Amino acid sequence: MNDVTQALARAADTARRAPSIHNTQPWRLVVAGPELEVRAEPSRQLIELDPDGHMMLVSCGAALHHAGTALAAEGWSVEIDRIAGTAGPVARIRVTGRGEPDPAAVRRLAAIPRRHTDRRPVPPEPVPADALAAVTRAVTGTGLRIHVLRRDQVIDLAVAVDHAIRAEGTDDRQRAELAGWVGGDRAAGTGVPDTSIPGEAPQTTVPGRDFGVTGTLPPGAGHDESAVYAVVFGAGDTPIDWLRAGEALSAAWLDAVHSGLTLLPFSAPAEIASTRLLIQRLVSHVGYPYLVVRLGVAPADTVPDTPRLPAGETLEVKP
Ligand SMILES: Cc1cc2nc3c(=O)[nH]c(=O)nc-3n(C[C@H](O)[C@H](O)[C@H](O)COP(=O)(O)O)c2cc1C
Repeated sequence: MNDVTQALARAADTARRAPSIHNTQPWRLVVAGPELEVRAEPSRQLIELDPDGHMMLVSCGAALHHAGTALAAEGWSVEIDRIAGTAGPVARIRVTGRGEPDPAAVRRLAAIPRRHTDRRPVPPEPVPADALAAVTRAVTGTGLRIHVLRRDQVIDLAVAVDHAIRAEGTDDRQRAELAGWVGGDRAAGTGVPDTSIPGEAPQTTVPGRDFGVTGTLPPGAGHDESAVYAVVFGAGDTPIDWLRAGEALSAAWLDAVHSGLTLLPFSAPAEIASTRLLIQRLVSHVGYPYLVVRLGVAPADTVPDTPRLPAGETLEVKP
C-alpha cells in the first residue's frame, strides 16, 4: 500500500467514529487508488423514520467531514466531489498533494475520541460566549448558518419536539423500526445501547428523544436552563444541502468538544414535515432547517462509548 492509500485508509477508519442517526452507520467507505468514496448503505437506512434519507445524508456528511479532518490533520490536500445519492456514492475525496498539517484539523482530530452523545441534562454553568462563537464559526465555515434561540423560542422548540415525539410514537411502523435499533446491549455494534439512554426522562424544558425504552444511564440532576439551543439551517433543501448539514454538524460538534462544551443533536422536529415548518418559523423562514442542537458546558464525567460495527463491515480498501 502506498502512502496515499494508507492515509485514506486511516481517514476512512476515523470516519467510522462519526455520529449517525440512531447509530445506524449508514455508510460504506471504499478506498481505491487516490480516492475515498463514501457510499450510502441502503440496508442501514431508516425506511419508515427517514424515507427521504435526509438523516442518512446528514450522517454520511458527518463521516465525510471526519475523513477530511483526518487527512487535513496529516497535511494532505484534497478535492471533494459531493454527489449525495441516497443509494450509492455520496461523496468522493481525492488526494491531490501534501503540505503542512492544518492546525484546526489537528484540534478537531484530537476531539474525535472525546466526542460522545450525552443525553443527560447539562450542568448549571452558562455556556461561555467564546465557546458559542467557536461553534458558530464552525457552522458558518461550512457555508451553513446557525440561529441561537431566544428563551421564548425555546418554548416553541419544546412544543415542536413534543409534537414530533408524539407523531413518531403513535405510528406503529415507525415504532417497530425504532425498536430494531435501540435498547439492549447491541452486540452487533449498531444502534443505541441501553448504556447511552437515560434511566428516566431528564426534567428538561425541551424533551429528549423518546427511544421507547428505558436505558441504564443515570440521568443525574439538572435541567436545561443553562443550555443553548440552536437551529442549523441553510439556503437549500437538496440532498447536497443535507450532506453539508452533516459536515456542519461534525465541525460544530468537534469544535464544541474542543471548547469544553457538549452538543446534543435534536433531529426529530426536522424529520416530520409539520414540525419542520415550526422550526422554519424560528429562523424567520430565511432558510431550510436541518437540525436543532443543544449546547451546554461539558459535564465533568463522560458517558460510555457507543459501539461501532467492525471495520470489515463498513470499510473496504481495494488493492
Ligand atoms: C443526523 C443525526 C441525528 C441525530 N439525532 C439525535 C436525536 O434526535 N436525539 C439523540 O439523542 N441523538 C441523536 N443523534 C445522536 C446519535 O444517536 C449518535 O450519534 C449515535 O448513537 C452514536 O453515538 P455517539 O455520538 O456517542 O458516537 C443524532 C445523530 C445524527 C448524526
